[in-house]
Parts: sequence; C-alpha cells; structure tokens
Amino acid sequence: MGSKVIGCGHYLPKHIIKNDDFDKSIETSDEWIRQRTGIEQRFIAAKDEVTSDLGAKAALEAIEKAGLEPKDIDLIICATSTPDTTFPATAIHIQNKIGIKRAAAFDVQAVCSGFIYALAVADNFLRLGQHKRALVIGAETLSRIMNWKDRSTCVLFGDGAGAFLLEARNGDNIGVLTTKIYSDGESSELLYVDGGVSSTGKSGYIKMNGREVFRHAVEKMGKALEEVTRNAGYKLNDLDWIVPHQANKRIMIAIADKYKLPFDRMIVDVDKHANTSSATIPLAIYGALEEGKIKEGDLIGLTALGAGLTWGGAVIRW
Ligand code: ACO
Repeated sequence: MGSKVIGCGHYLPKHIIKNDDFDKSIETSDEWIRQRTGIEQRFIAAKDEVTSDLGAKAALEAIEKAGLEPKDIDLIICATSTPDTTFPATAIHIQNKIGIKRAAAFDVQAVCSGFIYALAVADNFLRLGQHKRALVIGAETLSRIMNWKDRSTCVLFGDGAGAFLLEARNGDNIGVLTTKIYSDGESSELLYVDGGVSSTGKSGYIKMNGREVFRHAVEKMGKALEEVTRNAGYKLNDLDWIVPHQANKRIMIAIADKYKLPFDRMIVDVDKHANTSSATIPLAIYGALEEGKIKEGDLIGLTALGAGLTWGGAVIRW
C-alpha cells in the first residue's frame, strides 16, 4: 500500500507587493533583493483573509482537479506556522469551510519544512490503511508576523497556500516512494519568532541569522534529497525534477552546483511569490503542472529546511 497525489491546488491573495514598492518604507532596492534572493514580488493576504481561507481555496481546487467532492476526504493535515487561532487547529477551520463532516483534521508545525512533514504523516496513515484520502495543505499568512521595518526579513516572505490530495493506492513504484524528516533544536536561535502564547502573549516577529540559515539550507537540503532518493532506489541524476523549498534562488543554485545537478531540472518560482514557508512546495508543483513541465510518471525529489531547524525530503513518482 502507498499513496498517490491525485489533485493539486493553490491560492494566492490578490494584493501584490513588488520589490520597488519597498523603496519608500525601508532602505532597499529591487536590485539588492533580486541579486541576493531571486525574489521579484510577493502576495499579501487581505485584512479579512485568514490562513484557513487560503488553505480552503487551495484544498477545494485540489479536490476539483481530482474530480472528487469534499465528502470523499477522510483526513486533513494542514502545515502552518501562522494559524488562524491558537486553537482549534487551522485544519479544523478548513474542514468546516469546505464542508467535510467525517474526517480527522489537525495541524503540523515544522515551519518551512511543514509540507514535507505533513506529506510524510499523511503518506504513513494511508500506507497503514487507516485513511483513504488525505488533504495535505501548506497555508501561511506570514505577513502577520513580519516586522515591516526590518529589511533583512520583510522582503523575503509572502502569503499563499498549496494543497495535495493523496489517495491510498496499491502498486509498486507509484506515488510517494519515500519520505524522511529531521530536526535539531540546538540551532533554534538561527530562525525564530520572538513571541508566543505562553511567553509574551503576542504573536511576535520573525528573527533570522540569514547567513547561517543559508549555510544549513544548502548542506541539509542537499543531504536529505540524496538520502530519500537513495532510499527510493535511485540516484540524484535519475530525478526528472527537483522541487526545493523556495526561499532563495542562490540556495537552489548552490545545491545544484554541489551535487552537479543540471539547474534546469530544478523547479524555481521564488521570483513569483517569495518564501511562503509551508506553501512553497505545493505552489511550485502547481505552477510546474500548469506549465506542462511535470508529467504523469515523472520522478520528483522534494526537499526543504525551516526553523527548528527542521528539514526533510520526499521522492514521488508523479
Ligand atoms: N536591502 C538592502 N540591504 C540589505 C537588506 C535589504 N533588504 N537586507 C540586508 N541588507 C544588508 C545588510 O544589512 C548587510 O549590510 P552591511 O554589510 O552593511 O552590514 C548586507 O546587506 C549584507 O547582508 P547579509 O545578511 O550578509 O546578506 P546575504 O548575502 O547573506 O543575504 C539573505 C541575506 C538574503 C537573507 C541570505 O542570507 C539568505 O537568503 N539566507 C537564507 C535565509 C532564508 O531564506 N530564510 C528563510 C527562512 S528559512 C528557509 O526558508 C530556508
């Protein structure tokens, strides 16, 4: 038993902030942001839009693409670090918004690796035969925890959501072939939010040591990808597409250089929506499907690193 992605959906809010729009509020430039990160713009949720609104829209599109209905889903996992409410979980709000009555719904919090964590959890539930169809959603409103006066972080992130619909399937070499997740709390001070329910009572703002996070990202994302690909019985060069977490184009170039991978096999769309944390991987895959890059049967490697540090990888036969 395994699991196969049978639908992929996305949602991006209407409001766009281009790099040039920052010129008046902070000392930065389009040139600096493009050169250092590859980012050109980011989407920002409206005041009355919450994370579950974004997640619900992405989930509904994934269900529609699979030709199914909300009632066909029996598991909902939402990866998010920007929940609507302290409780219940954002996945519960999504469940309610899309009208699913009988399903288990909960959140996974692993920041930028959240989607791979959620995918691993869902795949394992389906492999065990405990559920039949799982929505795996990455949804974020990072704009709510950004200090808009801190140029070292506020230019890097955006809001958005992406979703997979997974179905339990029998058969070899189809769907999710391998997943692997890791974490190391010793490096938690490299990237964190300086607030929380039981510490300050406020949600706080993102704080980051960019250079160190960059170094860990290249090392750990590359190693994770190598390991999951080997566990699936393949070599990195067998991958048709590599979908790394979209934080910085230079991180992706460095991984491609280190492992001698052709850069044109990497799916890169950080230019279009910046770093949307747990939503980057499904958003990148959604875009690649729309462009006709990823096709049925392709072998795809996913990898991500986020605050924690958390990191991981997955290999999917699409
Ligand atoms: N505009 C102009 N100048 C800036 C800006 C900005 N937006 N931000 C920082 N600078 C300045 C700094 O103040 C510094 O100036 P100084 O030399 O006078 O002190 C100079 O630019 C260089 O700063 P560095 O931090 O050394 O720049 P670097 O080349 O490392 O790029 C960046 C910074 C883009 C954050 C990079 O380190 C990075 O991408 N790190 C990865 C972090 C990341 O993507 N985190 C996201 C979450 S984790 C993840 O998703 C993997």
